[in-house]
Amino acid sequence: PLPEYSPAVVVGTGYGAAVTALRLGEAGIPTLMLEMGKLWTEPGADGEVFCSMLKPDERAMWFKDRTEAPLASFLWLDLANRDIGRHAGVLDRVSFGDMAVYLGRGVGGGSLVNGAMAVTPERSYFEEILPRVDAGEMYGKYFPRANAALGVNVVDPAWFETCRSYQYARVSRKAARKAGFGTVFVPSVYDMDYLRREEAGEVPRSADASEVIYGNNHGKRSLDKSYLAAALGTGKVTIGTLREVREILRQPDGTYTLVVREIDEHGTVLGTHHVSTKYLFLGAGSVGSTELLVRARDTGRLPALGEAVGQGWGTNGNVMCGRANHVWDTTGSLQSGMPALGIDNRSDPVHPAFAEIAPVPAGLETWVSLYLAITKNPERGHFTYDAASDSARLHWAASQGQPSIDAAKALFDKVNRANRTIYRYDLFGDTRVFENRFTYHPLGGLVLGEATDDHGRVKGYRNLYVTDGSLIPGSTGVNPFVTITALAERNIERVLAEDVRG
Ligand code: FDA
Repeated sequence: PLPEYSPAVVVGTGYGAAVTALRLGEAGIPTLMLEMGKLWTEPGADGEVFCSMLKPDERAMWFKDRTEAPLASFLWLDLANRDIGRHAGVLDRVSFGDMAVYLGRGVGGGSLVNGAMAVTPERSYFEEILPRVDAGEMYGKYFPRANAALGVNVVDPAWFETCRSYQYARVSRKAARKAGFGTVFVPSVYDMDYLRREEAGEVPRSADASEVIYGNNHGKRSLDKSYLAAALGTGKVTIGTLREVREILRQPDGTYTLVVREIDEHGTVLGTHHVSTKYLFLGAGSVGSTELLVRARDTGRLPALGEAVGQGWGTNGNVMCGRANHVWDTTGSLQSGMPALGIDNRSDPVHPAFAEIAPVPAGLETWVSLYLAITKNPERGHFTYDAASDSARLHWAASQGQPSIDAAKALFDKVNRANRTIYRYDLFGDTRVFENRFTYHPLGGLVLGEATDDHGRVKGYRNLYVTDGSLIPGSTGVNPFVTITALAERNIERVLAEDVRG
């Protein structure tokens, strides 16, 4: 059962939430985390906690009848997706018309399902997106702190050159080089030594066994193994699972009361509870935290919330595409699900892009080179509250994705020309070459310095904070979780010193 009162409450258990809970716990403050997903520790009938992409089952997705993998088709056949039972699975795909957002559900949030790529943005890019944040402090203190606590490591370059797991990356690197593009190793929170032993047959396979977006049974340092384990280790932090925060009420004495809905793994509502707190931290992610505040504003619960709530949302310029390789350029049937290399075109003055070389974990040769490009798309969407469905609605039009396509096209047209190769037309359900109707990297909605002050304090309300990806104005230029983590480290340090201890 949930306590009726906790001095601090953190909503969600993703990156921003986990950092915040750890630092609150270390400061001796009893902290309750509320997570709508489940705790992923119980093995299923097959003895595994998570299912693979090749055999998805009810564990794969958050209350869906069928899986919704981003590679919708192969030779236009719907080979990737399967009918499944409705269950509190680990990956959600929230559909908003022209844009769908993939999200992790469970203790650890996005860290359970993501590709583990742990990239610190270029300093100049960071200074551009968050000019009011002291970059010297970020790069001197908080990025190193985040990288250390997350357990970031890099693939051994010598092993990379000879292993089977990254043949697909070497093939893509060769093609990129031929077109004059450089590549960089992508740091990871997947244990690269574990991966080496997977390939050698010394340990159970995970990244090498098509375990990616529905969770990894081994090898990945997800938050439950890093920040959240440390937070629980303080003895001050507890986590309530399958508990969704629905409403935030403010009491006359300035404390907050949360309306929390409890469900079971099948989605049956078990009850509604009230939990009160003095310090309330929103770490429900860009979509989750923004929804809570647009709902609170527009239902009159927190009427002093301003116009900036719900604004400044972006896709981090995500766009996916595939190239068809020549028959002699095989990518291999064994592919690490965790990318290790990116094509670096960030210095392009017109179309900067960072294209991670993604696996096609099909377990057989596909001759496809796949990419998830992160581009500098200046378009922004916004959220409004929809009373009929009691949920937030994202406003994003298909045309707003065009700058992402233009940047990816500038890069891969050159790669194709230099290699005499073509795009794949059969991967995304129809004949489109570039898929940008989804994002893995939702950012913004409660932008730092706009909906909040410069340290994540929500404008208009004392002791109410935002800690997650909704603070970042739509783009980081690279994969975002290291930035989210480092920013949360920075903000909680200030909030602890001035608001909680002070
Ligand atoms: P995050 O989304 O992690 O956590 C929010 C948590 O709050 C979730 O657990 C959710 O269930 C919970 N929640 C939401 N609403 C709630 C409510 N009302 N009540 C209770 N709980 C609630 N990034 C990267 O840097 N490198 C990578 O390789 C990848 N790859 C990747 C692959 C895939 C498939 C996805 C979906 C995403 C990625 N990402 C990524 C993105 C990365 O995972 C993402 O940016 C972070 O997880 C966001 O962290 P946050 O702290 O913002 O929230």
